[in-house]
Amino acid sequence: MYRTHTCGELRLADAGKEVTLAGWVQRVRDKGSLVWIDLRDRYGITQLFLQDGVSDPKLMEQARTFGREYVIQAKGTVIERESKNPNMPTGEIELRVSEFKLLNASKVPPFTIEDVSDGGDDLRMKYRYLDLRRNPVRKNLELRHRMAILVRNYLNEKNFLEIETPFMIKSTPEGARDFVVPSRMNPGEFYALPQSPQQYKQLLMVAGFDRYFQIVRCFRDEDLRADRQPEFTQIDCEMSFVEQEDVLQTFEGLAKHLFKEVKGLEFGQFPRMTWHDAMKYYGSDKPDIRFGMKFVELNDVVKGKGFSLFDNAELVVGICAEGCSEYTRKQLDGLTEFVKRPQVGAGGMVYVKYNTDGTFKSSVDKFYTPDDLKLVAEKFGAKPGDLMFILCGDAMKTRVQLNALRLEMGNQLGLRNPDVYAPLWVIDFPLLEWDEETQRYYAMHHPFTAPKPEDEALLDDPSKWGEIRANAYDIVMNGVEVGGGSIRIHDRVLQNKMFHTLGFTDEKAQEQFGFLMGAFEYGAPPHAGLAFGFDRLCSLFGGADSIRDFIAFPKNNAGRDVMSGSPSPISQEQLDELQIALNLKS
Ligand code: AMO
Repeated sequence: MYRTHTCGELRLADAGKEVTLAGWVQRVRDKGSLVWIDLRDRYGITQLFLQDGVSDPKLMEQARTFGREYVIQAKGTVIERESKNPNMPTGEIELRVSEFKLLNASKVPPFTIEDVSDGGDDLRMKYRYLDLRRNPVRKNLELRHRMAILVRNYLNEKNFLEIETPFMIKSTPEGARDFVVPSRMNPGEFYALPQSPQQYKQLLMVAGFDRYFQIVRCFRDEDLRADRQPEFTQIDCEMSFVEQEDVLQTFEGLAKHLFKEVKGLEFGQFPRMTWHDAMKYYGSDKPDIRFGMKFVELNDVVKGKGFSLFDNAELVVGICAEGCSEYTRKQLDGLTEFVKRPQVGAGGMVYVKYNTDGTFKSSVDKFYTPDDLKLVAEKFGAKPGDLMFILCGDAMKTRVQLNALRLEMGNQLGLRNPDVYAPLWVIDFPLLEWDEETQRYYAMHHPFTAPKPEDEALLDDPSKWGEIRANAYDIVMNGVEVGGGSIRIHDRVLQNKMFHTLGFTDEKAQEQFGFLMGAFEYGAPPHAGLAFGFDRLCSLFGGADSIRDFIAFPKNNAGRDVMSGSPSPISQEQLDELQIALNLKS
């Protein structure tokens, strides 16, 4: 037997027991007549102890040869420690060693395997298997495991069946870019890796499975960010014979179950906001509602005073930062720089200080009298001591810029506490989104999303396409889109109309989606669904911004796995077999 106990298990009640432990050497402390070894495994650390006069001198010599991350087995007796460590679960005992066995030596690790490591990101990614030995990373994966089990049990209880769908599917041009896989047996033809199991889960509804879920890997060839990986995991779900309310209730239930079990938090009904209001009041379709600072539109109080920037703007809009009127020149300049960064893209920023003595100081004092500014302050509901920031320009662009400033102020004022959770449903998304580059409409969610019945007639009037609302919804937490879904079109005529709206000819629609449209002719039930981004959900519950540390083997920002060295060229033989000739541009 390699071990009788784990390294996190022994307590004072075990004193006197003969035990065997196995694990990694965290560190060796050699005080001459005393030697301690911290032995670590997944479950914790146990202190091993050797002492001149008590322990065999050969054993002490052997202990001194162990380096960091050596894998050893230690037999001995559990004894009460003289100086106890209240910070460790095993801190009241140690193991007086009677026998060691070296199971494997280790090279000196390239960084310390400690909670706070001295290794930089790149190094830790290269040696990911060592990084995974660190407590914080391991804990993240333990959380992920626990959440997956909770999700499975919850959905199982609610009659959902977990059904696997294929990973090698037909490439479809809508959505993000596909990763493709060449087919040796069908030269010149490619499979695509699924961006989501969307069409298959709809086919499962046609097949009568009624409630499906899958914790499933999805693949998207898109630019990466902290909350985006090229392969990521969804909790993908679909239900038949449901309306939007049923879907929202079911998955709100799942989210609440997770909050309760994992965080011990209870919520009432999650608030709901239309996409239109989210954009108008927060400049984002995923507002962080942990804090206020709602947008206030100022066109009617600032125009016509001779300040041409405001006079010519489609929208003048601002936020009020409570209690910030004492901000210094330097702080204001810093924020102006912030909004002018290319990532934000504002031309500049106007501020209005409502001083504690009731006077005003603004960057536009030349154009606005104190009475004018008082009207502005009233519009904000500002009090003496507050600071207002105002941006102007094209309405949508300005809102998005102000969203960046609002989030930055939230950060600066410590209003985005990761231990506070603010879930929100964003509903009534637009059905279609205009793309300037290709001069056509795209489905905002996906082409199978149903318009709101009351907006369906607008599909016949191209000038109104931008106004059509969809029965589509996102679940947002703390400014992160953690999931999204929609009511699907189950009627072939409406689906055809939708494809035409998206610029597909009949032939093209048939070629791309024929199998789904064909299936809809054989009794497709009304159906709807949603997918959570599981990695995002885990990182949110883990209080982190990046999803990387909740994925065992993630890719870096260039989409590379620096540990295995993928992607990588393949051999000429492999290329020949696939009948692929490379035509590299660089
Ligand atoms: P959607 O494209 O909104 O919907 O994806 C669902 C959720 O998946 C997460 N997500 C990602 N997470 C990490 N890295 C990525 N690259 C990434 N892309 C998306 C987000 C998102 O909310 N088939 C539909 C769902 C449906 O309609 O049922 C779909 O895939 O949290």
